[in-house]
Amino acid sequence: MTNVVVIGSQWGDEGKGKIVDWLSERADVIVRFQGGHNAGHTLVVDGVSYKLALLPSGLVRGKLSVIGNGVVVDPHHFVAEVEKLRAQGVAVTPDVLRIAENAPLILSLHRDLDAMREDAASNSGTKIGTTRRGIGPAYEDKVGRRAIRVIDLAEPETLPAKIDRLLTHHNALRRGMGVNEISFDALHQELSSVAEHILPYIDQVWRLLDEQRKAGARILFEGAQGALLDNDHGTYPFVTSSNTVAGQAAAGSGLGPTALGYVLGITKAYTTRVGEGPFPCELHDEIGQHLSTVGREVGVNTGRPRRCGWFDAVLVRQTVKTSGITGIALTKLDVLDGLDELKICVGYTLDGKEIDYLPASQAAQARVEPIYITLEGWKESTVGARKWADLPAQAIKYVRQVEELIGAPVALLSTSPEREDTILVTDPFEG
Ligand code: IMP
Repeated sequence: MTNVVVIGSQWGDEGKGKIVDWLSERADVIVRFQGGHNAGHTLVVDGVSYKLALLPSGLVRGKLSVIGNGVVVDPHHFVAEVEKLRAQGVAVTPDVLRIAENAPLILSLHRDLDAMREDAASNSGTKIGTTRRGIGPAYEDKVGRRAIRVIDLAEPETLPAKIDRLLTHHNALRRGMGVNEISFDALHQELSSVAEHILPYIDQVWRLLDEQRKAGARILFEGAQGALLDNDHGTYPFVTSSNTVAGQAAAGSGLGPTALGYVLGITKAYTTRVGEGPFPCELHDEIGQHLSTVGREVGVNTGRPRRCGWFDAVLVRQTVKTSGITGIALTKLDVLDGLDELKICVGYTLDGKEIDYLPASQAAQARVEPIYITLEGWKESTVGARKWADLPAQAIKYVRQVEELIGAPVALLSTSPEREDTILVTDPFEG
C-alpha cells in the first residue's frame, strides 16, 4: 500500500476530477498542494455534478481534506465555495477540512493586479491568458516575503505591520498603473471580515499528515493545472505561478518526498490548452473543431474555449521524467472514435534539425514543428468500455503506441465521464 500523487501531464484539463474522485473513495486523506482557485475540477457523484476550484475533491465523499501550504487561498472564494457545497448537501466542517496555517492569502489587491496586467498586456499582445484570479500576484508576494498568511489572521497585534509592508509594495505598483491606492483601513477590514470564516479550519498540516501516514492512512495528493504549466518546467512564461510537477506534493504539504509513493499522470488521448503560449500540435482545421466539440473543450472556471490538437508524445514523455510518473490514467479516448486516421507527434523539427524534447527557450518553443506518425482510426464506439476486450483493436494499438512513446504504462483507462466506465490495469494505491 502506498500514497498517490495525481498530476496533469499536459496543460491541465486532462480529466483529473473523475480520476481523483475515483481514487478518493479508496483514500483516507486528500491533499491539495499547489495552485489556488484557478483549478477547475468537475466531479459527478450519484448523478450530481460538483464543480470545485479550491477545495480538495475528497470533501464531496466526506474524506479528510487538506489545503496544504503550497496553495494560495482566496478567503472570499473559500467562503463562497464552502457555501455552494453546503447548499448541495455536503458537510463542510473542521472535522473534515483543514487549511495549512502557513498558506498565503489571495486578497482583492492580487485579483486587481492580475486583471490590470492582463488588460494592459492584451493591448500590447503579450498577455498570458491567466484566470485573472490573483494567483500570480499572490505567489509573487509569497516569494517576496511580504505575503499575509492564514496564521496572521489569528495574530491581530502583528497584522498591522504586515499590512503596511504589503501596501508599500502594492500601492507603489498601483500608483505606477494610475489606479487608486488601497488604504490600511480597507485592507484591515477585508482581513478582519474573513478571519472568522477561515480560522476554524487552520492546522499544522505537516504534523497532521505525518500522524496520518504513521497511522497507515492512504494519502492522495491532488494536483491542479498540468506539468506543462509548471513555473520551472513548463512553457515559460506561459505558465502558472506554482510548481505543478509531482515533487511539489512534498514541499506544498510538508510531508517529506519519501512518503509520496505512486505518481499518476492524468493524460488526455489528445492535447488541449487554455490561455496563450506555444502549442506545437495545435489544429486549426475541422479535426481541431471536432475534438473541441466532441470533447466539450470549454474551461470549467472561465468558460474559455480550449485550443485542441493531436497527442504530443514529446511533451508527455518529458513530463514522465520531470514528475517521475509511475503510470498514467488515459482519458477521453472516446473523443477519437470515428476519425479515419489519427496522428501522434513523436518528435519536433527545430531549424531543420530533429529533436526529441521541448526546448527551454521561448523562441524555440514557438518555432518547433511537429513530426507525426499516422495510425489508422476506428469506427466503433469506445464509450463506456470496462475491459480491454470491449475496445476495438485499433484503439488498443493507439494506447500501446502512446505507452511506448512516453515510456510509461497505462494504469487506468477512462472511457466516459461515469466513474464505473474505467478499465483498471493497476490500482495506484497498491503500487
Ligand atoms: P493563472 O494560473 O491564473 O495565473 O494562469 C496562468 C496560465 O495557466 C493560463 O494559461 C491559464 O489558462 C492556465 N491555467 C490555470 N489554471 C488552469 C487549469 O486548471 N487548467 C488549465 N489551465 C489553467
